[in-house]
Amino acid sequence: MYSYYRANQNEIDQIAKALAGEYNAIQCYEQMANMAKNEEEKKQIMEIRNDEIKHYQTFAAIYQSLSGMQYNPKQTEECPGDYYVALTAAFKDEQETVDFYLDIAENASSPYIRKQFKRASADEQNHAVWFLYYLMQNR
Ligand SMILES: [Fe+2]
Ligand SMILES: [Fe+2]
Repeated sequence: MYSYYRANQNEIDQIAKALAGEYNAIQCYEQMANMAKNEEEKKQIMEIRNDEIKHYQTFAAIYQSLSGMQYNPKQTEECPGDYYVALTAAFKDEQETVDFYLDIAENASSPYIRKQFKRASADEQNHAVWFLYYLMQNR
């Protein structure tokens, strides 16, 4: 029983960490969209931000069902004020998140959780490619 509880608590903690990252991305990508060099970039960053909002909502529902508590978001990281620095940070963060979500998927306690984190991981990989493209456009 104890080890089951611990496994479950670990999953809840991981999902809380995922939620903190999504929340941070939602805030920072809005600022980035406002710094974008043209309308096409701005629109793409806002589309990425919409994906993060969907991830956030999906993970928040999972968090609530596992923990019985509502997740309370708070901004933990500061968003870079320079566009190029922000793009670099976003690219790295997306790449790291791909692996992080695959780990969560692999150890997921239900097929539904596994599916949602696999799907989100694929989205983050796609986001990373976009940010890399804009990094090359803006250097
Ligand atoms: Fe996301
Ligand atoms: Fe993303």
